[in-house]
Amino acid sequence: MIKVSLISLGCAKNLVDSEIMIGHLHQAGMTVIPDAEKADVVIVNTCSFIDSSKEESIGHILEVHQNRGLRKRRKEQKLIVAGCMAQRFSKDLSGELAHEVDAFIGLDQVTSVAPIITGLYAKERAAAAAPADFVTPRSTYIPDYDTPRFRLTPKHFAYIKIAEGCNHPCTFCIIPQIRGRHRSRTVASVVAEARQLVREGVREINLISQDTTFFGMDTWEQRPNPRTPVDSSRGTALTTLLRELNAIEGDFWIRLLYTHPAHWSDELIRTIAECPKVARYIDIPLQHISDAMLGRMQRETSGDYIRDLLRRIRAGIPGIAVRTTFIVGFPGETEADVDELLAFIRETKFERLGVFRYSQEEGTRGAKMDYQVPAKVKEARWHRTMALQREVAREVSSASVGRTLRVLVEEPGVARGEGDAPDIDGRVYVSRDLPVGEFADVKINSFHDYDLIALPKGQQPVVYKIAKQAQ
Ligand code: F3S
Repeated sequence: MIKVSLISLGCAKNLVDSEIMIGHLHQAGMTVIPDAEKADVVIVNTCSFIDSSKEESIGHILEVHQNRGLRKRRKEQKLIVAGCMAQRFSKDLSGELAHEVDAFIGLDQVTSVAPIITGLYAKERAAAAAPADFVTPRSTYIPDYDTPRFRLTPKHFAYIKIAEGCNHPCTFCIIPQIRGRHRSRTVASVVAEARQLVREGVREINLISQDTTFFGMDTWEQRPNPRTPVDSSRGTALTTLLRELNAIEGDFWIRLLYTHPAHWSDELIRTIAECPKVARYIDIPLQHISDAMLGRMQRETSGDYIRDLLRRIRAGIPGIAVRTTFIVGFPGETEADVDELLAFIRETKFERLGVFRYSQEEGTRGAKMDYQVPAKVKEARWHRTMALQREVAREVSSASVGRTLRVLVEEPGVARGEGDAPDIDGRVYVSRDLPVGEFADVKINSFHDYDLIALPKGQQPVVYKIAKQAQ
């Protein structure tokens, strides 16, 4: 029996692809094991978002190769590179990694990983030959409710990929070129998968895609404009999906991740407010607030539009926690743009905030723009923004002290509130006696910057074990 080990890098979308690959490996009778050294085949599911993600991916590939070399298993153990870096760079990498890699597979090959492995064993590759390249250009694949999948998340939470690909023209981002045009699943397909997950005991369903608010719009007869709001009267829409998911019986949260500000609407705000299972939490990457920067980034929004939208969201969904991300150091960014951003962060008091230093990515329009910002300046702007957010986070956390919060227990002594998404947001430290994977009501008695503490007097928080993702 062939033993396979898989290293999953990158974001939750890539994690779902890893889960689909493992589901298909199991279906084909292969064994999936955690220990790469003991495996016959190692798959590295890569990320290619920014330079550091590519470096991390290459680092893992070289490490697997080096280990099998040390163990003199160069011939027996196969190394397959999958995911976003393979999809984008297989042609370039097949020369550079000719000795290391046996095959590249793209995003549309996640369901054929088992026959690809069998084929690799059938054909012995000469050491000097180029790796087999199975990557097909312009990815179009989207999973369905019955796609074999083996979940890698803890039993109590899961991701559902409701759509794949992206139609936005953001000038800093390479992902649309990797993941292809936006394509949505049907409402029925997502609901069937959610029902099954709830039956299996999942307490939190995280809806993901590149742009969750665009869900269904690709199926509308008239192509939506960049600022088309979610409108269920025009066909399949996120609002329809949320109402149907909310109607599934059971005690669980539905969390919306990766919403683009351009497609929000009053109908979506009303829907979230009226659906108690939809978490009072939104992830809405804004990237900047200065009109000059939003224009250069081609974000299809303006400062006034964003300010007005946030006012409507906060007024329409009481208690909502807003998570966003900003990029500092985009080409042409001036000190005045940064000052405007900082003033906006100060006045909006985002409950959760991530800041990225702009990364000049090959193949994007941003990379070719004039007025690239020197690394030192980017670094200084990042520190200023993070320092301000730490102050805001303390203010936000201190407002929770004395309140009772419903939390989902992640592991003994560590939980998350409704305002905390898995892997990216804060934690709530709770008594170790609370059962893992279940909801609990806890009283917050103190805080530590981004994390809340709900521990009986004298108890210390457990060691912080869960790594925070970059995105
Ligand atoms: Fe990386 Fe691909 Fe996700 S580039 S961030 S793994 S969509």
